[in-house]
Amino acid sequence: MAYEQRITDADLMQDEELLEKSIRPKRMEDYIGQKGVTDQLKVYIEAAKMRGETLDHVLFFGPPGLGKTTLAGIIANEMGVELKISAGPAITRQGDLAAILSNLGEGDVLFIDEIHRLSRNVEETLYSAMEDFAIDIVMGKGPMAETLRLGLPHFTLIGATTRSGSLSAPLRDRFGVLAKFDLYSDDELCQIIKRTAGILGIEIDEESTMQLAKRSRGTPRVANRLLKRVRDFAQVKYEGNINPDIVNITLDSLGIDSLGLDDLDRRILRLIIESFHGGPVGIDTIAASLGEERITLEDMYEPYLMQLGMLHRTPKSRIVTDKAYAHLGLPVPEYMRPGQPADDSDGEEQVKLW
Ligand code: ADE
Repeated sequence: MAYEQRITDADLMQDEELLEKSIRPKRMEDYIGQKGVTDQLKVYIEAAKMRGETLDHVLFFGPPGLGKTTLAGIIANEMGVELKISAGPAITRQGDLAAILSNLGEGDVLFIDEIHRLSRNVEETLYSAMEDFAIDIVMGKGPMAETLRLGLPHFTLIGATTRSGSLSAPLRDRFGVLAKFDLYSDDELCQIIKRTAGILGIEIDEESTMQLAKRSRGTPRVANRLLKRVRDFAQVKYEGNINPDIVNITLDSLGIDSLGLDDLDRRILRLIIESFHGGPVGIDTIAASLGEERITLEDMYEPYLMQLGMLHRTPKSRIVTDKAYAHLGLPVPEYMRPGQPADDSDGEEQVKLW
């Protein structure tokens, strides 16, 4: 489809960077959720500080919009060092990486978003940087070429990826800490919405907060974006007061339903049900039928549909559950009714791809 960003898109929109910066928590105690990740990181940060060492390299993985960059900033803060941010697609040549690395200070944190998109050459240069804190630079060409070893400060690499499966094994193995980000619960999203509302001076009651949370597909970035849209609606049409009715009117007008599904979520479910009898059907077939990229479906759409229990996925195929039929108001097939054995007929175990 023509690239037009959806309101439920977990990727950062063009004008959102400033907003995100202004509402980002700076300290670990202000970071809400991802307890499994933060609990282990607190220990490693404390231990590294006690030994006067840098923190081990860390890999963050999970769907977009869950606060990976935010947590990288907090880690740098807690370690008392600088955070430098780059992204896989922005580092195209070894020289780009060498420039970034040689500008780091002792102990600094380098955050590389979308690290699975580094080119092979750059990735290989990164290996020795991570392991030996040195890189080999080839000067000149042909028989006159010379290799120069460039020493680097000790640094911590925080790599982030939406798809841990796309990371090469040698790169993955060089991270000492692997941390998986999960979608947020409604309660956690409520806390995040309240915190953002407080910072932006928005008044919002409990029920409106919960309504927003339930429709934010487990993603703080979406929750914060919807909060701003509801504020706009309230301001222009309802004299500034946010209440549950205004939340409903705003989100309905944006095509976001009671569980936070948008038009594409519903098209995915409807396609599997109406054209493939509920599945199993391959992800490439779904993507081609909808005219969408496979990666978009896998990274942005499926995690939430799986969290809601509407979709099951195996490496090869997808099937919907009775919950998907019920949500769309369609009759649930006989074999899916309680007491009937489930038909996840390709016989493979449900595998989480994160
Ligand atoms: N903003 C985005 N993610 C957040 C989180 N986990 N806690 C607080 N604020 C956030």
